[in-house]
Amino acid sequence: MSRFEAAIFDLDGVLADSARSHFVAWKRIADALGIAFDEQANEALKGIDRMGSLRRILEMGRISMPQAEMENLAARKNGFYIDAIAEMTPADLLPGTQRLLDQAQDAGLKCAVASASSNAPFLLKQLGISERFDFIADAGLIERPKPAPDIFLACAAALRVAPQHAVGFEDAAAGIAAIKAAGMYAVGIGDAATLAGADIVYPTTDAVDLRAVLAA
Ligand code: G6P
Ligand code: MG
Repeated sequence: MSRFEAAIFDLDGVLADSARSHFVAWKRIADALGIAFDEQANEALKGIDRMGSLRRILEMGRISMPQAEMENLAARKNGFYIDAIAEMTPADLLPGTQRLLDQAQDAGLKCAVASASSNAPFLLKQLGISERFDFIADAGLIERPKPAPDIFLACAAALRVAPQHAVGFEDAAAGIAAIKAAGMYAVGIGDAATLAGADIVYPTTDAVDLRAVLAA
C-alpha cells in the first residue's frame, strides 16, 4: 500500500516541451533589448511567472523601464508563446507522459496540474489531456507564486488530499522548492544538481519509475 493519494504535475517541461517555447519567446524579447540571454540563464526563469520572468531578464541587462512598457513587453512575449502553442498537438507531449498519467490513474491517484502559466488550460487542450485531470489550478487565483507552496496546496485542497499524501512533479528549482514547502514528496525532472532539493530526480519524464516513487 502506498501512502500517496494524489499526483500533482507541473506542465511546462514536465508533461510537454513547452518550457522550450517559453524560452524561445523570451529570447526574442531579450534579443530586441540587446540583453544576452541563453538556455542557462533561462534555467532561473523556469516556473517563474510572466512579470517575474521579465523583471529577471531586465535585471540581467541592467535595464529599468516604466511599468507600462514592461506590460507591453510581457504581452508581446505572451503573443509569441501563444502562437507557438497554438501549433501544438498531442504529438508535443513529452515522451512517457501518457504512460505516466495512465500509471497514476491505475494506481488510483487523483491528478492535478499546478502550472504558473495562465495558458495552461489552452495548452492542455491542445495536447488533448485536459480530461485526464481532476483539477487544473488557475494561476490567476494563486496569491504567492512558486517557490511559495500556494499552487500545490491549492491543488491538494481541491483534490481533498493531505499534502503529505501528495507527490509533485517539477522541472524547475522554484517548483521543487514549492513542493517541499507544501510538505509533499518532490520528483524532479531534469538535472540532478539544478533540482538538488527534490526527493528524487529523473533526467526525463520518460525515465520516471512511478512504482519506485509510490513505494517511497
Ligand atoms: C510556467 C513556466 C514559466 C512561465 C510561467 C507563466 O511556470 O515555467 O516559464 O513564465 O509558467 O506562464 P504564462 O504562460 O502565464 O506567461
Ligand atoms: Mg516547468
